Amino acid sequence: MNYPHLFSPGKIGKVEIPNRIVMPPMATNLGSAFGEVTPEQVEYYRRRAEGGTGLIIIENVQIDMYEGRSLVAQIAIDSDKFLPGLRTLAEAIHNEGSKTFLQIQHGGRQCTISSTDGLQPVAPSAVASQFMQIVPRELTKEEIKKLVNKFAEGALRAKIAGFDGVEIHAAHGYLIAEFLSPYSNKRTDEYGGSLENRMRFLEEIIQETRKLTGEDFALGVRLSVDEFLPGSLKLEETREMARVLEAKGINYLHVTTGNYDSISTIIEPINFEEGWRVYLAEEIKKVVSIPVITVGVIRHPEMADNIVAQGKADFVAIGRGLIADPEWPKKAKSGKIKDINRCISCNVGCIGELLANGKVHCAVNPWAGREFLWGEVRPAEKIKKVVVVGGGPGGMETALLSAQRGHEVILIEKEKELGGQMTLAARPPHKEKIIWFKEYLENELSKWGVKIETGKEADANYVLSFSPEAVVVATGGQPIIPDAWQLDPSVATTAWDVLRGTVKIEGKQVVVIGGGIVGCEVTAFLAEQDNWVTLVEMLPQLAYDAEIITRLEILKELNKENIKTMTQTKCLDVQGSKIVYLCEADPSNSEIQGDYLVFALGTRPNRGLYEALQDKVPEIYLVGDAKSPRKIYQAVLEGAAVARRL
Ligand SMILES: Cc1cc2nc3c(=O)[nH]c(=O)nc-3n(C[C@H](O)[C@H](O)[C@H](O)COP(=O)(O)OP(=O)(O)OC[C@H]3O[C@@H](n4cnc5c(N)ncnc54)[C@H](O)[C@@H]3O)c2cc1C
Ligand SMILES: Cc1cc2nc3c(=O)[nH]c(=O)nc-3n(C[C@H](O)[C@H](O)[C@H](O)COP(=O)(O)O)c2cc1C
Repeated sequence: MNYPHLFSPGKIGKVEIPNRIVMPPMATNLGSAFGEVTPEQVEYYRRRAEGGTGLIIIENVQIDMYEGRSLVAQIAIDSDKFLPGLRTLAEAIHNEGSKTFLQIQHGGRQCTISSTDGLQPVAPSAVASQFMQIVPRELTKEEIKKLVNKFAEGALRAKIAGFDGVEIHAAHGYLIAEFLSPYSNKRTDEYGGSLENRMRFLEEIIQETRKLTGEDFALGVRLSVDEFLPGSLKLEETREMARVLEAKGINYLHVTTGNYDSISTIIEPINFEEGWRVYLAEEIKKVVSIPVITVGVIRHPEMADNIVAQGKADFVAIGRGLIADPEWPKKAKSGKIKDINRCISCNVGCIGELLANGKVHCAVNPWAGREFLWGEVRPAEKIKKVVVVGGGPGGMETALLSAQRGHEVILIEKEKELGGQMTLAARPPHKEKIIWFKEYLENELSKWGVKIETGKEADANYVLSFSPEAVVVATGGQPIIPDAWQLDPSVATTAWDVLRGTVKIEGKQVVVIGGGIVGCEVTAFLAEQDNWVTLVEMLPQLAYDAEIITRLEILKELNKENIKTMTQTKCLDVQGSKIVYLCEADPSNSEIQGDYLVFALGTRPNRGLYEALQDKVPEIYLVGDAKSPRKIYQAVLEGAAVARRL
């Protein structure tokens, strides 16, 4: 058997679990605005169960519709009216042979005003988190007692609905974690101060929950064992907490990290290494004998199997990996590793969408969150000859789904290799994971028999020579250089050429013009090549176009001795390797002389071919950056949406 440790059965409390793969709780916003489970949500989870996940822990479910909601469409469990939907969900997962727990949660001071319909969030103390910047209201002792009951009643409803257990969300800076952590708990009564006092709320919840649900129902706790902030929870204390929790009779510990002020340690952006947090689970495992679940950027079955084999954790949670590929477990078990569509940690479609009040989706899997709406891959009603021009993510996704539907597909790419801008996007420091998606698509395209022509720049005549019944133009874009500026190629270039390696700059004074994602990343790249870099951006914010968690990490990368950043600074003119700029803080024109200028002013769409083919082919579509320059997520989504219509 492949990965025998990962695929050995496990047990939590009395619950027998078919393998060691856990889908950790991940909010979806697929619920209704009134807290009910929706068919979209049931199908989303059912697919992950069908894909072979041993245990699915349903996302954070609120125990208080009124004050506890941390997302606008979060499902709830504080009334019996939610039972029918919850029952359907548990049944759908069980019918596929998986076990399922449900996470009970209260958002505390990390609730947004929009999620609580304008109410001030509540917390142990009236202290705002840096991330949310909303001062919460301090809970009274009477309110704390009521909340203890609400958690326990929520757990009982989960049992009645047919779930195999509940996970108490005591992590990530939500209400219970706010009590546990000295970072957010400033109380002076019996709920604050000493470790014993800070644990009181959680212990009371465990005690009440056990009273209502009985000994046989699985009960676990998710704990941030390090919050990576000054004055916050650290392993030294959380080891002790783990011991106390075991003694209180919980059945497992789910080891995680962070709160919103250290949010990149909750949902890691692309720069975090695979398995970087496993050591924390290992440390907790040393002090308890109940099962421990580890989580965080575990993308390869081999790594997951080794974790179990080496006794570092008993179960391995694959979070975004299962959003990206619900069949991760089945493919791993059958040894089809290349077939796994690995999450690249871009955070754009999943948490990025949620934080913008959208639903869970995925840049590399356009079906994620749309399983119910899109159904299965539908065979084409009429097989067509489809020509796709452009081998970036948009074109590759279009070609793949078109071929899967049975069409005859030709994919034409002007460069020697496929990938489009993904090959550049993967070059800045710590962004190698992007290449995983390119590799996955290449593997799938060859499996599905797509005819690929690389090194061929297609013009209208060439496309028409295939007599296509449908053409999809996915020609991406080009870096923008304002026409008014005459660039001297010996001292001025684009971020793309620097990342491509066609221009090498080392040990120089460089001025980067444009501080979006690309400008910031090329700055970090140039700084690694021993250059002194000045980054100039006209907006007040750098990396304004990045997903919020990723943006925080990009800004950290810029915090280096050899990088200087200037915002609200507009480049007015270019003279050789000098720029003339206007800074809002100082309204007189100034200059910066560099050895080299690097431009990162955005992307202009390549639409020439699309325009040339108008009215010349029966069907024509435009997708991705060629339509409007954005990200992989949109290119892939548009490619898939078009391929579904062909
Ligand atoms: C440095 C950098 C970093 C980035 N980082 C990220 C990131 O972290 N996350 C993210 O989501 N996005 C990122 N992006 C953006 C992302 O890569 C693009 O949005 C995405 O690749 C667009 O996909 P596409 O398929 O529409 O176009 P492209 O990827 O541009 O692909 C278009 C393809 O068409 C080919 N082509 C053009 N004309 C013709 C023709 N006539 N005949 C044949 N072939 C042709 C091109 O050679 C190219 O390969 C980054 C981009 C850059 C440059
Ligand atoms: C979209 C999204 C929503 C999440 N929601 C929750 C949640 O509801 N409860 C929770 O404890 N963790 C939540 N997490 C954190 C994940 O459970 C997991 O710990 C994290 O994504 C790291 O694991 P991964 O790299 O395997 O994705 C969420 C993560 C994502 C990406």
